[in-house]
Amino acid sequence: MEVHQVTFRNGPTVLALGQGTYRMGKTIGNRSEEINALRAGIDLGMQVIDTAEFYHNEEMIGDAIQGARDKVFLVSKVHPSNATRQGTLITSCERSLKKLKTNVLDLYLLHWEGNSSFEETVSAMVKLRQDGKIKLWGVSNMDVAEMERFFAIPGGETCAANQVAYNIETRGTEFDLLPWCNGRNVVFMAYSPLGEGDLIRNRTLKEIGKRHNATAAQIALAWSVRWPNILSIPKAGSVNHVEENFKSLSIRFTDEDIIAIDKVFPPPTRKMPFAGW
Ligand SMILES: NC(=O)c1ccc[n+]([C@@H]2O[C@H](COP(=O)([O-])OP(=O)(O)OC[C@H]3O[C@@H](n4cnc5c(N)ncnc54)[C@H](OP(=O)(O)O)[C@@H]3O)[C@@H](O)[C@H]2O)c1
Repeated sequence: MEVHQVTFRNGPTVLALGQGTYRMGKTIGNRSEEINALRAGIDLGMQVIDTAEFYHNEEMIGDAIQGARDKVFLVSKVHPSNATRQGTLITSCERSLKKLKTNVLDLYLLHWEGNSSFEETVSAMVKLRQDGKIKLWGVSNMDVAEMERFFAIPGGETCAANQVAYNIETRGTEFDLLPWCNGRNVVFMAYSPLGEGDLIRNRTLKEIGKRHNATAAQIALAWSVRWPNILSIPKAGSVNHVEENFKSLSIRFTDEDIIAIDKVFPPPTRKMPFAGW
């Protein structure tokens, strides 16, 4: 089987399907099921685990990865209000490391644009790398214009990833941002690849799923990683969902499938409004 993988510039190669964690850790009753789900994903080889200080679940993620840290590519994000060098970006990172019970993050992202200057953010990210607290840094919710601003700052061109909303219904970034990232070796991280769960009920995806003996969720995920340089991070709160999502990696679309998908979810033919924070 051809394996979908993504390679970070100056970084490792990982499976193109990782694990999101937004809204995990909210309910004590779900905690062990969520931890089991994350561990099942790690065992299957889904290295990337995505969290953020905004999610208030880093302690639980830290518990989930205990004993498996070397198998995980750990991503966290700084809240924009903390994204300055002199201010609190470095303290935020140190706090996340402590909660996650690790010495280093594999990737640290600016969650979205706040009031801090991008210069301050780059300077703090570069310092965190020099100090060995993060291996790579990147951004989230940035369109082409913001990426251009980052790349114009000395050190900004070391940005390794941009995490944005991307799914079969929200594909406007294919017009410009995705090729922009591909051309600069910036990994395109697709968040909400299941449309926050809405796509599992989609009739077109269910129909295509029948041809592959697959669920709508699997079709949505297979679609999200059909091209190189896209790293998709669905959130799944149960072992069953994680296993189902993992199996999506073996789906290969026919031309007929792609035509059917594009008819219902047309690819962008011009610049589209950016979907993000
Ligand atoms: N950077 C940002 O600003 C940003 C914004 C949003 C999200 N994110 C990241 O991206 C991750 C994913 O996005 P998301 O959480 O918004 O939405 P998503 O991954 O598109 O959808 C998650 C929903 O899909 C359900 N689901 C997962 N696998 C399923 C399956 N096989 N069958 C049926 N339902 C399934 C989950 O339910 P169960 O929990 O019951 O499995 C959950 O309700 C987040 O968790 C977060 O890490 C980043």
